[in-house]
Amino acid sequence: MPAALKRVLVADDEENIRLLLGAVLRKEGYQVSVVGSAQEALRALAEQSFDVLLSDIRMPGCSGLELLDQVQAKHPNVVVVMMSAFGNVDTALEAMKRGAYDYIAKPFKPDEVTLLLKKAEERERLKLENQRLRLDLEKVKYGGLGKMVARSAGMEEIFKTIRKIAEYKTTILIQGESGTGKELVARAIHEQSPRANQAFVPVNCGAIPENLLESELFGHVKGAFTDASRDKKGLFAEADGGSLFLDEIGELPVNLQVKLLRALQEEEIRRVGDTRGSRIDVRVIAATVRDLAADVQAGRFREDLYYRLNVLPLVIPPLRERLEDVPPLVEHFIARNNTRLGLEIKGISPEALKLLMDFSWPGNVRELENTIEHAMVLSESDEIGVEGLPAKVRESKDRIRMTLLSGELSIKKTTRIIEEELIRRALKQTGGNRTNASKILEISHRALLYKIKEYGITDL
Ligand SMILES: Nc1ncnc2c1ncn2[C@@H]1O[C@H](COP(=O)(O)OP(=O)(O)OP(=O)(O)O)[C@@H](O)[C@H]1O
Ligand SMILES: [Mg+2]
Repeated sequence: MPAALKRVLVADDEENIRLLLGAVLRKEGYQVSVVGSAQEALRALAEQSFDVLLSDIRMPGCSGLELLDQVQAKHPNVVVVMMSAFGNVDTALEAMKRGAYDYIAKPFKPDEVTLLLKKAEERERLKLENQRLRLDLEKVKYGGLGKMVARSAGMEEIFKTIRKIAEYKTTILIQGESGTGKELVARAIHEQSPRANQAFVPVNCGAIPENLLESELFGHVKGAFTDASRDKKGLFAEADGGSLFLDEIGELPVNLQVKLLRALQEEEIRRVGDTRGSRIDVRVIAATVRDLAADVQAGRFREDLYYRLNVLPLVIPPLRERLEDVPPLVEHFIARNNTRLGLEIKGISPEALKLLMDFSWPGNVRELENTIEHAMVLSESDEIGVEGLPAKVRESKDRIRMTLLSGELSIKKTTRIIEEELIRRALKQTGGNRTNASKILEISHRALLYKIKEYGITDL
């Protein structure tokens, strides 16, 4: 997919040059705007997105070099090419030192300009490709697994456990809030296991009507009930030799909980209406958003099945407890959507990323994924900016409030979040002065230094 540098802004005080470049580039299929001064160029760049700025080095008022500096600060993704009059090579070289892509000496032939733009395009394409490769590397560096990326210690630990347990047939119970990646984890376990070449069969226990679920899971024989006009293989049998992913296991009706337990213990299933059982070799991976232990307490879930499933519990932390996963996830989603949707977004602005890291993500990774896709599709420049983020993200800088709203009841976790936030605020207020900050916080200087280290506060 070529990185098209289609939108070109020409800034030159000479009308001839403006007319010439406008005509030549339009003929080549570029969208061209022309302006006569640096000020007008800045205004145009603020109003709409351009890929390339072709600017004269010397213009009345603000010089091309000053324009270059400003464009680099405000629109870092715009490729700047300077045009210089004969004998002005020094300034042109200075421009390149300051970050211009190239320069072109006047008078020039039209071909020279189009060739230069093609070269710049090639460089941009390489940059995007590089971005994708870096992403693959990130996965290696941060220990991503399967289709998952993460760098938090919590997820690292999960990846480690997955690698360790994948080869055994042990039943696994994955717990985590909605959108934390339970299904991806289940697939990763399967893919890392010796069963990888066999079927991975996902079943959403909450989505199949109760009266059909038994025959869906275990199959039935012809005539078992009114609609059973033929034998039917169940999902357990489909997964024979492979893995069966029982999603939303907490929704499984009690009578089926009994049957599932028997199937797990005896490694045998019985189709509805069948008198004999048949042996199966299936690894069961279950997942739930519910607190199954509490369901057991409340008598909604069978204790024996709970213990049978929970041999190896995997609890995926919510995204708000591993915000350091946000940057690699964002980069991952940008690169993936660029490929999937044919977009050419190069990144995210630091301010926008900061907001994403301040948000509490009640919908976890899925919500982040949707937010990025939305911002990319609607973006008018090649970078996701603050304006592309939904209002709830832009307005929720207050982590304390979000933590309290999230329904978190752990005093320990909540206190830590509040403590970290107060320290950040105090440091901000005192311009990073730790002695003064410790006074405002009413803790000792030593305690503050310790906590700064503990919370990894670096950006004061
Ligand atoms: N670590 C990750 N790296 C990349 N993508 C992820 C990661 N975690 C989750 N996702 C993406 O987020 C979305 C939600 O993940 P998944 O469906 O596995 O979550 P879930 O816990 O099963 O959610 P639910 O409880 O709502 O079914 C998916 O599109 C998935 O690809
Ligand atoms: Mg799921």
